[in-house]
Amino acid sequence: MAATACHSSQSHRDHPNATDSLINTGGTAAPPGYQRGAVLITHNDCFTCHRIDTKLRGPSYLDISKKYGFNEGNVENLAHKIIYGGGGLWDTAVMTPHPNLVEEDAKAMAAYILSLNHQ
Ligand code: HEC
Repeated sequence: MAATACHSSQSHRDHPNATDSLINTGGTAAPPGYQRGAVLITHNDCFTCHRIDTKLRGPSYLDISKKYGFNEGNVENLAHKIIYGGGGLWDTAVMTPHPNLVEEDAKAMAAYILSLNHQ
């Protein structure tokens, strides 16, 4: 028997991590106060460019939460970026806009991301 219990059906993955558990649970693995934001993230296209702890095309959510303090102003700024997209802050890549998101949902996602380093 392997030393670690792996109940993932995607056994080709060697390192199950926080992102895997978030995807596999549809977001309910997040802390209770932030589950709504986490669920919204799993239901959108965010994971095509982001991971919790690894840089992909976009910065990791952990790096984002380390860069910004957890306060109302930053939640609003990040929600704005999620809706309108943009680039130039992290790398050369640009984030696509998500004009269909309402501000309340974008704020819930931003709050979940910022909570990662501030619990
Ligand atoms: C097409 C790829 C892509 C998708 C899809 C994407 N992002 Fe991003 N995201 C990026 C890139 C690239 C950056 C860095 C932009 C920059 O340098 O200013 C970024 C930055 C961010 C930031 C930090 C913004 C800042 O001002 O520092 C947050 C928060 C974020 N994304 C959340 C999300 C969420 C939530 C979703 C899903 C609704 C999402 N992203 C979907 C590529 C993507």
